[in-house]
Amino acid sequence: MEKFVIEGPAKLEGTVEISGAKNAALPIICASILGEGKTVLYNIPEVKDIHTISRILTYMGAKVKIEKNTMEIDPSGIFKYTAPYEFVSTMRGSICLLGPLLAKYGQARFSMPGGCVIGPRPIDLHIKGLKKLGVEIINEEGYIVGKTKRLKGNRIFLGGNFGSSVLATANVLTAATLAKGETIIEFAACEPEIVDLARFLKKMGAKIYGEGSHLIRIEGVKKLKSVEYTIIPDRIEAGTYILCGYITKSKIKVKNIIPFHLLSLIDKLEEAGLNVEVGEDYIETKPKSKWNAVDIVTLPYPGFPTDLQAQMMAFLTLADGISVITEKVFPERFIHVGELNRLGANITLDGSKAIVKGVRKLYGAKVMASDLRASAALVLGGLAAEGITEVSRIYHLDRGYERFEEKLQKLGGKIKREKEEKK
Ligand code: EPZ
Repeated sequence: MEKFVIEGPAKLEGTVEISGAKNAALPIICASILGEGKTVLYNIPEVKDIHTISRILTYMGAKVKIEKNTMEIDPSGIFKYTAPYEFVSTMRGSICLLGPLLAKYGQARFSMPGGCVIGPRPIDLHIKGLKKLGVEIINEEGYIVGKTKRLKGNRIFLGGNFGSSVLATANVLTAATLAKGETIIEFAACEPEIVDLARFLKKMGAKIYGEGSHLIRIEGVKKLKSVEYTIIPDRIEAGTYILCGYITKSKIKVKNIIPFHLLSLIDKLEEAGLNVEVGEDYIETKPKSKWNAVDIVTLPYPGFPTDLQAQMMAFLTLADGISVITEKVFPERFIHVGELNRLGANITLDGSKAIVKGVRKLYGAKVMASDLRASAALVLGGLAAEGITEVSRIYHLDRGYERFEEKLQKLGGKIKREKEEKK
């Protein structure tokens, strides 16, 4: 296993280019099997999750090629419709293959995705939505087995106790494009990644209206053509670097982004007393030596994203005052609290709330990564801390951040990847 060794406090400068959005790419890669030929996708981030989904597609018989952020998918050879446990357990996001497999082949056998450190990760809304489209689904020894003769359009309410579901919306939206008749999804997810998926499907010939709102209407068509498509920039990667800039009191330019996708983060940074320069396709950090504590509540888009909660918490450990962070999407998503406290932060938990008392300094220490975004929070802490921070198990980071240490080194960050000593 590998670790990052970070020397802080870091002073960053220059420009960082943001990669394509992993969470837009995953559902789009899965939906590409609906095309009659070969799909070409540009701006694909070369991260582990993308390699995992391409391994699953290859296992099923598709031909997948990835080079220099371009991916080619030819589904013509698919002859297996099952995603075994060893794949699904490493990446829950593979669940977004379910809708496309059922829509194109009328069958799918999927290992129940386990929970993960951020919570139980149920899939009841995926199952409810697909059943409403006419899929028979049973649970067989930890596998979901789905089959259908022909999907039929329906009116589906997809809201759960935690609001909308991104990947359940992706599954139902994709399946509905080839269903007979009209489908209405109520309480659909509004995330930019869902809008990107809808745009991709419309380019293939799907008839979709209302994407980006809570009500999406789909008129089923008979078939979809394969297209070329460019994935949107990754708003979570962008937010992570913006916070790297502010926590190290550095002026950096975060380029190749859609600033509109980050309004909730910009709003909170301004509430903390910071200036944010917003350009056409970039954000430039205008750092200050101090910032105010702010309260954060994570919500489905356009609310503050749960995927930036850990990184924002790292930033607020050095704020003036007490910040209360409430997790409304994944109430247990606080695995990073213990590790941030090892860096000298002062955070206490009270159910789905974290109370972050600002401290003057963080100090380097050995910490352990546990999930994708928690690991990013530890890197932010290490960049700001005085001394050396070692972040172990950085395979979590490699799942969703392309060339993370390289991009930070280019900004002047003293960070290197090393082999972990055998215990
Ligand atoms: C997507 O996961 C993202 N993953 C997650 O990003 C992100 O945190 C999440 O959306 C929320 O924005 C990908 O896009 C690959 P949800 P998803 O279904 O779709 C509950 C990262 O770091 N729920 O929107 O699986 C669920 O428990 C990852 O890149 C049900 O109750 O999340 C949660 O509380 C982590 N029943 C809430 O809804 C269901 O059937 C939102 O989950 C499905 C979800």
